Amino acid sequence: NMVMPLAQVSILIHRLLSMFVHIVHTMCLYVCVHPHLTSSELIHSRSVVPFVGSSEGQRFETVLLDEERSRLLLGAKDHIYLLDPDDLNKHPKKLSWPAPRDRVDMCILAGKNPLTECANFIRVLHSYNRSHVYACGTGAFHPTCAFLEVKGHKEDSWLHLHSNTVESGRLKCPFDPHQPFASVLTDQYLYAGTASDFLGKDSTFSRSLGPPPDQQYIRTDISEDYWINEGKFIFAHPIADTYNPDDDKIYFFFREASRDGSTTDKSVLSRVARICRNDVGGLRSLTNKWTTFLKARLVCSIPVPDGVDTHFDELQDIFLLPSRDERNPMVYGVFTTTSSIFRGSAVCVYNMEDIRAVFNGPYAHKEGPDHRWVEYEDRIPYPRPGTCPSRTYDPHIKTTKDFPDEVISFIRLHPLMYRSVHPMTGRPIFTRINTEYRLTQIVVDQVAAEDGQYAVMFLGTDMGSVLKVVSITQENWSTEEIILEELQVFKSPSAILNMEISSKQQQLFVGGSDGLVQVSLHRCHIYGQGCAECCLARDPYCAWDGTQCSRYIPASKRRARRQDIKHGDPSSHCWDTEDGKEAYEKVLYGVESNSSFLECVSKSQQALIRWFILKPGADQRQEIKPDERVLITERGLLIRWLQRSDAGSYFCTSQEHSFTRTLLHLSLHVLDRGQIQAHQPATRESSDNPPVTEPRQRYKDYLRRLSVPVRSLDEYCETLWHKEKKQKQKGKWKHVQELRKSRNRRHH
Ligand SMILES: *[C@@H]1O[C@H](CO)[C@@H](O)[C@H](O)[C@H]1NC(C)=O
Ligand SMILES: *[C@@H]1O[C@H](CO)[C@@H](O)[C@H](O)[C@H]1NC(C)=O
Ligand SMILES: *[C@@H]1O[C@H](CO)[C@@H](O)[C@H](O)[C@H]1NC(C)=O
Repeated sequence: NMVMPLAQVSILIHRLLSMFVHIVHTMCLYVCVHPHLTSSELIHSRSVVPFVGSSEGQRFETVLLDEERSRLLLGAKDHIYLLDPDDLNKHPKKLSWPAPRDRVDMCILAGKNPLTECANFIRVLHSYNRSHVYACGTGAFHPTCAFLEVKGHKEDSWLHLHSNTVESGRLKCPFDPHQPFASVLTDQYLYAGTASDFLGKDSTFSRSLGPPPDQQYIRTDISEDYWINEGKFIFAHPIADTYNPDDDKIYFFFREASRDGSTTDKSVLSRVARICRNDVGGLRSLTNKWTTFLKARLVCSIPVPDGVDTHFDELQDIFLLPSRDERNPMVYGVFTTTSSIFRGSAVCVYNMEDIRAVFNGPYAHKEGPDHRWVEYEDRIPYPRPGTCPSRTYDPHIKTTKDFPDEVISFIRLHPLMYRSVHPMTGRPIFTRINTEYRLTQIVVDQVAAEDGQYAVMFLGTDMGSVLKVVSITQENWSTEEIILEELQVFKSPSAILNMEISSKQQQLFVGGSDGLVQVSLHRCHIYGQGCAECCLARDPYCAWDGTQCSRYIPASKRRARRQDIKHGDPSSHCWDTEDGKEAYEKVLYGVESNSSFLECVSKSQQALIRWFILKPGADQRQEIKPDERVLITERGLLIRWLQRSDAGSYFCTSQEHSFTRTLLHLSLHVLDRGQIQAHQPATRESSDNPPVTEPRQRYKDYLRRLSVPVRSLDEYCETLWHKEKKQKQKGKWKHVQELRKSRNRRHH
């Protein structure tokens, strides 16, 4: 009997193909639909607002966003701007702060570039108190700092530089405007990691300012080989370690030249380091130097079993994503490769618990300059080096000046931890290999979507563009990286220098060498005019609201919003919308008097599953009641002894907390045995037998689509989308009517 297998095969092929087409659809959305917007398109669509004071080569690098007082300070070449973050171009205020003429002349005499180096490039802008801001600039390779006063509010505000507070910026600000640099101001103390001289050789992490009279510099020891070697500082931030405020630390991140082993070739390694906030230096040795400085390697690599891991060793930027526990922010890092063979960038995420575990683990030990780092296994002095002094722990050790000499001499030689910090997921959550750009900046926004919380990353590149990326972790812990948008925010392909995010305003401020722009975090309308496209975009900011793709705000209205970030499956979310009905209704063929199983599994254990049927010609759905022939199971609906009257549209809905959604919409066609029997291979081309021809025609259609070479995927997607659009325009109703007609024919 050849007949049965034929029907089965056709059902199977149909299923496989619709699965495949669904996958290709999703792929196409990445390739064709996920928008790559150029700067002029962005400006035109008003989703990017450039600051009118922007001008070429001014390096708009330093941004101080004060959401509370609704102001934005912007530091560039020889200028500081005071802007309104609600509208950058509304009454901007400009303060001119150039380097003195003689400094510029000396800088030029020293062989530096008059345009790009010998000017006052602002690198430090920190809120000091309610009225004052602390600012530093490179001052034509002679860094200087001063207090600025911000007065008034909005239109009536102004900036004033207190010239009597101008002081040397050495150790607080780099000499070289292009050098990576990190600083943070907290409790009136400024912590900064920078080169401390004209040549940029000695790099230190130091503390300065502070409430008078305690204004002593504390710094890393440059005479110690093992501390920081040609450091490039990336980020610094205070983080509390325990509930005891004495344990509060400053964590900082940098990269440095490694001096491991006996080889002479230098490589770059990334580090996480920390010092205690209450460190005041040693008494007899390490006076005015950190006595609690520890560092560890930060690893971001793709593990290859039994092979050489792909390492991303050059840290470019760090972002701390706050969590409910302020002691445990998530640490997002952007890294690039040092390899000359391939260009690559990666994002790795670290957990503070893992970082602390490494600092609480074994120290590294080096016998001499030509030896390798090994695990230190001897006795560790008390108190454990790197621990902050606290009366609560030991009344005899109130400050770091009370540390025994043993502890001080240990930390001089053992600032490095033996173990490295590895990313939470064991590997990067996002990589870009052999792209023409590299990633240089990161900010992250926590976004609440219908099916959970998502961390949306905004990644700045060295080519003037910003990628908006979400990394989705599936139930089996596999992660999927999706580029939601690629925005060319600057016309010239120069590096993004800084990004600040305002969740309050849903805006991103992006600074580059030629300007500052304000970018909205979302442009939901660009995902097209249909529910399915909106759903497939998987942008956590956006959902289908019934008429358009728009901003999703959780719990705003009871109105159902269609969104599926985790799976991006429109067939379960868009079935009842016009485009969903046509494109995503599943079709199943059953054979009369055989059994049929309609699979529908709820992802949620709490959900109540209900089944409905819409019979052909009927205008109301009816709930299916189980009986001896129809069984509702945990995994779906089982119909024994299929009858012709079972044909129709099936809806599997899940109800949870008074929120009902359709998980499955399926159209069941019942083929009678006679029909199949009559349908021998010889009559294959006949078209007046709808039940069997329909899948076969689709099959041919799919095959035709699939025969396109994969290499021109772009083109293929375009034709696919074009075709689908056309089909839609041809009239949805015609299609439905035809279907009805054919059904009626069968029934009469
Ligand atoms: C803020 O700090 C500046 C500089 O030290 C000082 O002159 C000013 O009085 C302070 N203002 C307030 C409100 O504390
Ligand atoms: C995890 O599940 C996804 C689909 O949800 C699948 O594509 C992937 O292959 C699975 N990965 C593993 C390691 O099982
Ligand atoms: C119908 O059911 C019989 C017995 O369960 C099975 O052998 C046969 O393959 C089924 N036919 C189809 C078309 O599913």
